[in-house]
Amino acid sequence: MPLTFEDLLARARRLPRGGRRAFLGIAGSPGAGKSTLAGHLVRELNGTGEPWVAHVPMDGFHLADAELDRLGRRHRKGAPDTFDAAGYAALLDRLRAERDDEVVYAPGFERVLEQPLAGALPVPPSARLVVTEGNYLLLESGAWARVRPRLDEVWFCGLEESERVRRLVARHERFGKSPADAAAWALGPDQHNADLVAATRHRADLVVPARAVPGARGPAPSPPG
Ligand SMILES: Nc1ncnc2c1ncn2[C@@H]1O[C@H](COP(=O)(O)OP(=O)(O)O)[C@@H](O)[C@H]1O
Ligand SMILES: [Mg+2]
Repeated sequence: MPLTFEDLLARARRLPRGGRRAFLGIAGSPGAGKSTLAGHLVRELNGTGEPWVAHVPMDGFHLADAELDRLGRRHRKGAPDTFDAAGYAALLDRLRAERDDEVVYAPGFERVLEQPLAGALPVPPSARLVVTEGNYLLLESGAWARVRPRLDEVWFCGLEESERVRRLVARHERFGKSPADAAAWALGPDQHNADLVAATRHRADLVVPARAVPGARGPAPSPPG
C-alpha cells in the first residue's frame, strides 16, 4: 500500500505520549516541499479546535545579512554555516522544558526581506507536538549534530530532482529574482546545499514520497517559506 497523507496524519498523532511535548522533524533539500508538508500537517491536525500542534521552521535561524557580511559568508547564504545551529538546538530544548505557562517565541524567516525575524512565531503552552522543518536536521557536522537527538522522528521529503529544481526556481522568481538569477542560485549555491542534504536521507525514519503530500490548494494566503 502506498503511503498516504492520512497515514502521515495518523503517525504524527501518535507521537505525543504522556505529558511530554513531542518533536517531529521534516528534512529535505531546498524546494523539496518541507514547508508545504509541515503546513498541511499542522493545519489538518489542529483542525478548528485549540491548537495542539505548532510549526517551528529551522529557517528562522538564518544569520542576519549584516552578520553574514561580517563573516564573509553572504555569497553562500543558506549553507550550513550561515545558520545559528546551536541557537536552534537550544530553542528545541526550551520548547521541551517549558510547557506549563509560558508562550515560547520562535524566530521566523521573512522571505521578501530574506532576513530572520525574532518573536514571530508563538508556541502556546497547549502545543503538544512541534513540527519543525529545514534542510539540515540530519546533518552530523558541528552543532547540527545536536538536532537529531532532540527530535522523536525525522521524515525526509523525497521529490524527484528535476521537479524539485523547477519548483525552487519558480519560488525564487515569485520572491523577486529575475529568471536568470533564480536559475543561477538554484543550480549554484542551492544545489551544493541540496547535495549535502541528500547525503543525510538515509538517516531519516521515513521518506515521504511527493504523491503523499496534498497539492498546492488554490491561492495560498501567504506562500510557504
Ligand atoms: N504539489 C505541488 N505542486 C507544485 N508546487 C508545489 C507543490 N508543493 C509545493 N510546491 C511549491 O514548491 C515550492 C517549494 O516548496 P516548499 O514547501 O517551499 O519547499 P521547502 O520548504 O522544502 O524549500 C514552493 O513554492 C511551493 O509552493
Ligand atoms: Mg521551506
